[in-house]
Amino acid sequence: MERIKKVLIDEQKIEKRVQELGEQIEKDYQGKEPVVVAILKGSIIFYGDLVRKIKLPMRFDTMAVSSYGSGTQSSGNVKIKKDLSRDISGEDVLIIEDIIDSGNTMKALTSLLEHRGAKSIKVCAFLDKPSRRQVDFKADYIGYSIPDEFVVGYGLDYDEKYRNLPYVGVLEID
Ligand code: IMP
Ligand code: MG
Repeated sequence: MERIKKVLIDEQKIEKRVQELGEQIEKDYQGKEPVVVAILKGSIIFYGDLVRKIKLPMRFDTMAVSSYGSGTQSSGNVKIKKDLSRDISGEDVLIIEDIIDSGNTMKALTSLLEHRGAKSIKVCAFLDKPSRRQVDFKADYIGYSIPDEFVVGYGLDYDEKYRNLPYVGVLEID
């Protein structure tokens, strides 16, 4: 059994922060035409909100990677379940992720895309749990840093549920 214990980030706060991130990214990518990659499925909601705040030409792509099963602990094992639809060599790639936890997923993914010859790779994560890091990894853009609690909503799931909540909530699992 599980339930939402508290609301950590409400809709108004999310909207304000996403607007700020969009403005920052728009500034940083002036004159560029980035490939903006949604990491499925957790970043879907954040991605949709964020890209509409970035007034630049861009290409959409998606990837699905897994380092998590249905539980709340990282397996530390990253698998590509769905790859990009086009070659990204020579491209400015901006990865949009829901949350960085151990850092294993983003560390592995950014080094893979580097090997494929991306011109630049940056990561924008909606949430960050720095106290959970197992490997050295820092995102370029972060919405909110949060404490070590399991959160759901705004795209994030527990066993595929709660992704559609419009806010970020802390889940209590008994
Ligand atoms: P990492 O490789 O440990 O950084 O794993 C990051 C991934 O773990 C995220 O993309 C999420 O799918 C999942 N994850 C980590 N923490 C949470 C959480 O609090 N709620 C929901 N999913 C989480
Ligand atoms: Mg994920």
